[in-house]
Amino acid sequence: MDIREKMRRDWDRRARVDPRYWVAATEEADEASYLESGARDVRALLDGLEGRVGADARVLDLGCGIGRMTARLVDHFAEVVGVDVSPAMIEEARAQHGETEGLRFQANSGADLSDFGDADFDLVFSYSVLPHLPPDVVRAYFFEVNRVLRSGGWFRYQFWVGPEPRGHADNDTLNIRVYDHAAFDALNREAGFRIEAVTDIDYTDPVLNLKPVWVNVQKVAEASAQAAELDRRAEEALSEGERELEYGLLLYLAVKHCERGEAEEGERVLEQAVQTDRTRPEAYVQWAALRLERGDAAGALVIFEALTEVLPDEPIAWLYRAKTAEAADRPEEARRALARFDGLQVSEPGLLAEAEDVRAALPAAPASRRRKTVRARKKPRKP
Ligand SMILES: C[S@@+](CC[C@H](N)C(=O)[O-])C[C@H]1O[C@@H](n2cnc3c(N)ncnc32)[C@H](O)[C@@H]1O
Repeated sequence: MDIREKMRRDWDRRARVDPRYWVAATEEADEASYLESGARDVRALLDGLEGRVGADARVLDLGCGIGRMTARLVDHFAEVVGVDVSPAMIEEARAQHGETEGLRFQANSGADLSDFGDADFDLVFSYSVLPHLPPDVVRAYFFEVNRVLRSGGWFRYQFWVGPEPRGHADNDTLNIRVYDHAAFDALNREAGFRIEAVTDIDYTDPVLNLKPVWVNVQKVAEASAQAAELDRRAEEALSEGERELEYGLLLYLAVKHCERGEAEEGERVLEQAVQTDRTRPEAYVQWAALRLERGDAAGALVIFEALTEVLPDEPIAWLYRAKTAEAADRPEEARRALARFDGLQVSEPGLLAEAEDVRAALPAAPASRRRKTVRARKKPRKP
């Protein structure tokens, strides 16, 4: 699959689940913190541009998402255009903010700005986009940003620069990449930019132990090379690191919905988490718990049936299937699930005790059925 298509599919999928969350990923994952984040990031954007860009400027927001920052800029600049690789994000941006003469949103290819002419803009900015992109895409964009900026124009972007570079799989569209200083300098220089300022953003990533930065660069020359047509294949499936992070972020979002009693939303997100990684039990368990909470034991049972299909050797899957079958008044199915659980030779006392509780809650097996089972077992031994 073409790398552009991979980026579009990934971000469309995220946009369909919860565009607000995927563009801002705030701790509370709610509307208030989303709006707050927009106000804060726009303030930081404008503070860093003071005295450099006038109110008559034409501005491009690269990777605008749903216009979290873009729409707030209409009072500050003559014209603001947001582009994004994800048509789903763009659709949502238009739905939320509308479009006027001074504000436009449009989908782009994911690696070039071919809808725009040379020197069309005075300012290009990009927040929380470039660090997620494969480095060859970033490089292609830098050449393109140079092309669409007027001479002396500004490019202000959020980035990660540190002593220890951090890369990810070539098709990873989510994990943050950290550039070392040499690579960062070369990237800007080759694209015709002079680095004017690099300032810390007040947030330390707990895994990277690093702060992201706002970077101001100015177009001082034409790019040293033309943006080569990016012609690269990418694995269609999510890379391991990407799957891991996407899954973790979905679980986090689901927990936030549950804390706020938003069961329906929580279920939707957990269903997506299951699709993201079918082999991890956490999302199934949380999803089924939500169904049980609202008295839908049959619905929860369906989830555990799916889990046991994917993980037939996982005792917890059979135990929970037995529990929910019992709660759904399906004693035969509960017995069958307990038999599978027993067959896995579990030694963990807590699980064994839970299994005994389920067994004790089941009505006695009907006598005729018991006889039948005995006969069935004996049958193969007949000569
Ligand atoms: C974390 S969100 C940030 C959105 C927006 N800049 C904001 O701060 O609200 C990343 C955005 O980048 C977009 N994106 C990802 N890859 C892109 C690419 N190659 N070209 C353009 N946009 C891209 C995604 O669709 C998504 O909307």
